[in-house]
Amino acid sequence: MKIAVAGTGYVGLVTGVCLASKGHDVTCVDVDEHKVKMMQEGVSPIYEPGLSELMKENMERLTFTTDYKNAYKDAEVIFIGVGTPEKSDGSANLTFVNQVAKQIAQSVERDCVVVVKSTVPIGTNDKLEQYIHDKQVHDVKVYVASNPEFLAQGTAVKDTLHASRIIIGSDEPAAIEALQKVYRDFPAPKLVVNRKSAEMIKYASNDFLALKISYINEIANLCETVGADIEEVTAGMGFDRRIGDSFLRAGIGYGGSCFPKDTKALSWLASFNDNEIRTVKAAIEVNDNQKFKLLKKARKYYDDFLDLNVAVLGCTFKPGTDDLREAPSLVNVPFLLEEGANIKLWDPVGTNNFKRQVPSLKIRYCETIEETLENCDICFIFTEWEDVKNFNVEKYSSLMKNPVVLDGRNCYSLKQFDGTDIIYDSIGRPVVNLNKS
Ligand code: UDX
Repeated sequence: MKIAVAGTGYVGLVTGVCLASKGHDVTCVDVDEHKVKMMQEGVSPIYEPGLSELMKENMERLTFTTDYKNAYKDAEVIFIGVGTPEKSDGSANLTFVNQVAKQIAQSVERDCVVVVKSTVPIGTNDKLEQYIHDKQVHDVKVYVASNPEFLAQGTAVKDTLHASRIIIGSDEPAAIEALQKVYRDFPAPKLVVNRKSAEMIKYASNDFLALKISYINEIANLCETVGADIEEVTAGMGFDRRIGDSFLRAGIGYGGSCFPKDTKALSWLASFNDNEIRTVKAAIEVNDNQKFKLLKKARKYYDDFLDLNVAVLGCTFKPGTDDLREAPSLVNVPFLLEEGANIKLWDPVGTNNFKRQVPSLKIRYCETIEETLENCDICFIFTEWEDVKNFNVEKYSSLMKNPVVLDGRNCYSLKQFDGTDIIYDSIGRPVVNLNKS
């Protein structure tokens, strides 16, 4: 099929490349000429495992352009995969989506289906269809369908090619048929629902996952108070198939481009419609507090942080990405700096972004974990990189001046610290070697 994709971020580019890999003829449109030039040369502007390879293999079916008119005019299906960032009041900013809708209305010259992949508030698809209908230049049929994405950064290609489900949100037989054809060779179960339900499925899924994390983080905090071990607790809970054993990892809170934004957007949408979604509001509040968890722990060991030598391992919101959006490190490191700490920071891919976001001469960026730990009084772990998880814990003792390790991602088992002089304080578990402080 002849397909156009608006936006070449994580959603748009991954969608475009995966559709090309299934034999479709795909034109990806972006306003950024520099990015388009890179992609024309077969280079992906974002890092996502497997994406560059798949892109190179399918270049004969992929076109990259800024010329939206040509891309949209005779496409059978046009995907909208542009961003819907958060506005200051928490609602979703639809500027980019609306801009694309305007361009589509100006350009389409054949019957087509506009497919909204971007996460948009419930009711947006209806409004977009009306808008395009009112503004379209040529007398052709344009249907709008909702088809939310569920890809996670770091596994986006896999999540698209082997999706858990494909949601087709439309009541229009021609649109449903077109999307069934687009996804003919994708093995995922396909569920046809109305457009508003499709839009809600996306928010309800993301917010449920965020809720699950905040819930387990609160249970972890309680475990610390009562002397239980969250890892044992979640292992026990996970056997219940109604609960499941995934997304129960306690830590210093979720970050990223989706959960923080989508929880706030749903909460805003509910209030706007005179409803209150208290569970989601609670998840947001719990997460905001959880991000400060390690700082509170640090106070147990040091009354103040002035001239304290601090090692920071990991700054991205999760491993496998250089993305810092809403990462706990972004609230913790500035706080430590304000309190006068000297920071050494290691992250395998996130440091360039971190330098831009937290410009400070008091941060020394290190090439290795060893260099970071040397002579430090305390270590904060914000991201569970494999290098951290595989690190020989005895080195915390030999390298640090005072081996106090605050682990926000439970990278190690407690046993690993038995018989050492390292104070190991993690999330939802007893502190190891506390009496040595
Ligand atoms: C998420 C959803 O997984 C995806 O389906 C949706 O389309 C976009 O949002 P992403 O933000 O890329 O994807 O990352 P994810 O792996 O879900 O992690 C989000 C955050 O939650 C990270 O900060 C991670 O550290 C945290 N998390 C995740 C936990 O703290 N505990 C967990 O058990 C799982």
